[in-house]
Amino acid sequence: MKISIIGTGYVGLVTGTCLSDFGLDVICVDQDETKISLLKSGGVSIYEPNLENLIQKNVSAGRLTFTTDLENAVKQSKVIFITVGTPSNDDGSANLKQIEKVAQQIATSINEYKVIVIKSTVPIGTATKIKEIINKNVIAKSEATRQSQPTSKPFDFDIVSNPEFLREGSAVYDFTHPDKIVIGTDSPKALKIMQEIYRPLYLIDTPFVITNPETAELIKYACNAFLATKITFINEIANLCDKVGGDVHQIAKAMGLDGRISPKFLHPGPGYGGSCFPKDTEALFHFASTCGYDFKLLKGVIFANKRQRELMVDKIKQHLGGNLKGKTIAVLGLAFKQNTDDIRKSPSIDIIKLLLKEGVNIRCFDPLAMDNAKKILPDLAYCQDEYKTARDSDTLVIATEWNQFRNLDLLKIKKLLKSPILLDLRNLYEPATLKSLGFIYEGVGRK
Ligand SMILES: NC(=O)c1ccc[n+]([C@@H]2O[C@H](COP(=O)([O-])OP(=O)(O)OC[C@H]3O[C@@H](n4cnc5c(N)ncnc54)[C@H](O)[C@@H]3O)[C@@H](O)[C@H]2O)c1
Repeated sequence: MKISIIGTGYVGLVTGTCLSDFGLDVICVDQDETKISLLKSGGVSIYEPNLENLIQKNVSAGRLTFTTDLENAVKQSKVIFITVGTPSNDDGSANLKQIEKVAQQIATSINEYKVIVIKSTVPIGTATKIKEIINKNVIAKSEATRQSQPTSKPFDFDIVSNPEFLREGSAVYDFTHPDKIVIGTDSPKALKIMQEIYRPLYLIDTPFVITNPETAELIKYACNAFLATKITFINEIANLCDKVGGDVHQIAKAMGLDGRISPKFLHPGPGYGGSCFPKDTEALFHFASTCGYDFKLLKGVIFANKRQRELMVDKIKQHLGGNLKGKTIAVLGLAFKQNTDDIRKSPSIDIIKLLLKEGVNIRCFDPLAMDNAKKILPDLAYCQDEYKTARDSDTLVIATEWNQFRNLDLLKIKKLLKSPILLDLRNLYEPATLKSLGFIYEGVGRK
């Protein structure tokens, strides 16, 4: 079966590559010519563990190709996955311009029955909207054709909502070992085709949730909003610990031992970031408002997550005598989390921006994300490693939980810093160990 993926970004590239590894014939399409030339020449546009190998393997096997020619890809394919971006508008709502444009492009290229799969995260009702856009264009096209070929019929298609739950940093693993596959469609024919595509996951007993498109759309937002709430909840408990002296790690451990809660997403820190949670919580809140529902819990989560960045800056300020002007701060980690070069809505970047407003000089290092950070913050001092970053700085801030930051040569760091202050926003170190080495140390919720 031939498949097109429209939008070869994070989700599109991983989806296309993994589906080709399931043995399907995949064409990855993007409008970005630079990205497609890079992929065609053997380069990879994002960093993701195991992705490069898998791309090479499937390109060599002839199952995976890259193109900017959407029309040709659509004509050849039975199934078309839409994986373009759905960024936030200024009011927090989801911007559907990319997906609407793709719907129009698909409509003008349809030449026989197609299954059109929406994998982008979209508000409830988008599948219906996309169906209407395509229908309108297909009918207009077939009326034009009928004047020259009176017996021709409009082409048929079905829409499926198939949200994606992969996590950046473990995207290939997540795609190939998902907790669930959600398929939202009203068409038994499209459902059968989707089940065929995901057959390798059926064979490893992956649970399938088969539902209507609206429910599938809301499942994705509900999952992300719940996870964002869980992270925010433990951050709030950590902030309380900072005030009263409890240890948030022990609290999170005890909470996680409760089978109803689970230990995942109970790691305190500078707040959630990345390309999904911030925009999806905002989009769900906005969507609820447009339906006349004030989603108060989510409003609190969004507010608390923004405040968390500010509280981290306050922590730094407190340790540097209340005034940051002219201070040099060494920041380890720029990516929004480890194992990715993605800096979209990264807590580290947000904190750096707040620090710059206070007149701070930033020295920084990240194993993968420095090229991306240079595009938006070109004037920081980008350093070659952790130790060069720490040199002559007033304090060291750990902002991303990269594994390589967990075993720093702390005595060397201490010698390099102007004053031995370590602010560990990811709680990578034990407070007692750091204090015994002579550091002034503070984590989050572990005073
Ligand atoms: N990144 C994640 O971890 C993740 C996880 C699950 C779901 N999602 C959702 O998946 C969607 C895509 O996210 P992403 O992070 O992959 O976005 P992205 O910005 O990395 O990629 C989108 C790609 O679509 C391309 N594009 C846009 N319009 C196009 C068009 N008309 N024709 C061809 N290509 C076009 C862009 O050039 C870009 O390469 C979003 O809705 C997102 O919320 C993302």
